[in-house]
Amino acid sequence: YEESIGEERFAPREEQRRWEEEHIGAAALKFGAKDAHVRGQKEYDYVMEEDEVIQFVSATQMKGTVEKEDETSLQLSELEKQKLSIQEVRRSLPVFPYRSDLLKAIANHQILIIEGETGSGKTTQIPQYLHEEGYTHKGMKIGCTQPRRVAAMSVASRVAQEMAVKLGNEVGYSIRFEDCTSERTVLKYMTDGMLLREFLTEPDLASYSVIIIDEAHERTLHTDVLFGLIKDIARFRPGLKVLVSSATLNTERFSSFFDDAPIFRIPGRRYPVDIYYTKAPEADYLEACVVSVLQIHVTQPTGDILVFLTGQEEIEACCEMLQERCRRLGSKIAEMLILPIYANLPSDMQAKIFDPTPPGARKVVVATNIAETSLTIDGIIYVIDPGFCKQKSYNARTGMESLIVTPCSKASANQRAGRAGRVAAGKCFRLYTAWAYKNEMEDTTVPEIQRTNLGNVVLLLKSLDKLVHADTARANFTVPGGDHMVLLNVYTQWVETGHSLQWCYENFIQARSLRRARDVREQLEGLMARIEIELTSCEGDTVPIRKAITAGYFYHTARLTRSGYKTVKQQQSVFIHPNSSLHEEQPRWVIYHELVFTTKEFMRQVRSAGT
Ligand code: CDP
Ligand code: MG
Repeated sequence: YEESIGEERFAPREEQRRWEEEHIGAAALKFGAKDAHVRGQKEYDYVMEEDEVIQFVSATQMKGTVEKEDETSLQLSELEKQKLSIQEVRRSLPVFPYRSDLLKAIANHQILIIEGETGSGKTTQIPQYLHEEGYTHKGMKIGCTQPRRVAAMSVASRVAQEMAVKLGNEVGYSIRFEDCTSERTVLKYMTDGMLLREFLTEPDLASYSVIIIDEAHERTLHTDVLFGLIKDIARFRPGLKVLVSSATLNTERFSSFFDDAPIFRIPGRRYPVDIYYTKAPEADYLEACVVSVLQIHVTQPTGDILVFLTGQEEIEACCEMLQERCRRLGSKIAEMLILPIYANLPSDMQAKIFDPTPPGARKVVVATNIAETSLTIDGIIYVIDPGFCKQKSYNARTGMESLIVTPCSKASANQRAGRAGRVAAGKCFRLYTAWAYKNEMEDTTVPEIQRTNLGNVVLLLKSLDKLVHADTARANFTVPGGDHMVLLNVYTQWVETGHSLQWCYENFIQARSLRRARDVREQLEGLMARIEIELTSCEGDTVPIRKAITAGYFYHTARLTRSGYKTVKQQQSVFIHPNSSLHEEQPRWVIYHELVFTTKEFMRQVRSAGT
């Protein structure tokens, strides 16, 4: 094939027919994929019942009408001609007519599930509606999570453009290792993992008025964990609005998880998508993709192509192969723009997939499953789906985690097919057999939480656990006089509980440290007995204790100057540790037990030396 590709390969009808027989299947062949296409019923649903699958092609034939005129390309060029302004595009999105109903529903319910077809404007529009409605007053933020970095970045940049602001000002994004937000940011797009991290610094998410868990159907590990945490804080923050937004899949489940929260459905626009299966399984799906792209390019009317591959390497290989073959074919074929999209692609390259296709050319976007629901690329008419995706899987017995290429689920395959029917009637070429679809593919993707190593998340949750509780517990022990007195208070209470381990556990105290303190105390008692010093109690008067500490640690003294604390001996700049009971008070003179360097030079176990 590689050698013969060229005029001869595509010109003779016979060759063409043979290829179509192999790759597109009988239906397309019968109607001649070149100058007519098969139409199903108007609001055709590509999610099929199981036993319909195999007869699907013939069923369409029977129901469908053959249109000699090529409506597909007509619709597209209409769209191109119109050159809508950005505000007109906003008003043209399926969510727009529901703007006020949606805002009303949000006002009336704390938690709302929003279901809508990919591309209906959930991600880009709803945060803007909320902003316009006043949810961002007094600097409150609206947070919107995305399972993927690329989506967070590209959506934020689109919204900044729509609001005519600089990205990073009012609209920003936050992904691991890159924070593109500022003091002014009120619409914040972020990966679900980043929101999880924010719980560490702000456990009640107090600076947010609305949290949108977007792409909920993806059920990434982080999104699933967020569900639990958000449900928790929603209970004690009645002012917080929670929106869970999902493509049209299993939204009832989200509703029942959130105590039967209402579902707001945004009716989508779908054009019919004809689905073609291969007759036999493909040995090399990468090669099959390349061939299919070229075949569509030379035989099918205008409209862009979207190819689903599993990762960067495959995508790069596919793009190279396509480039190479296009170069060889030269001017024999129309211009083809080959554009990759995957997570690590530089953002200027990512942005290119959204540029409108020049007249006469065809855009081919080669994507990971990011283009399944997270990103909407307008103008796609043809989808090529090899039926694979990369999935994390974890073997709990061996402790091995692996990222392997596995067949995607039926739900994924149907989402992919749906990408072809957004702007006009489209076609989806599945590079697997109808039999494989029916018998080999799972109905839905197993949620990540069930097939991954939960170690990191458990640690994160542990550190959260709510950190907050430990903070409260510490605050409960606070007594005047500084950290030494707090420690003494802890010790005394422990003694009063009869050295209870349970008590330590409940109060986030290390029993080991307390036992050590008891040992030291017993040792000192022994020494005192030996040199015959009488054991007396200060009976609640802490002055003698504080005097003793000051006398013992006089060389650990620091003084508050205009430029913060300075140690008396070395004039070293030091800080009171945030965990210290004196952190707020900042007395003029302090005595510290030790100096530790973590993020700064911190004094730990501090007491005021002035009193
Ligand atoms: O979230 P949902 O899938 O419902 O849709 P969206 O991401 O809000 O996209 C709505 C529309 O915004 C798309 O159909 C595109 O026309 C446009 N959009 C864009 O042009 N560039 C982006 N980076 C994202 C969206
Ligand atoms: Mg979206």
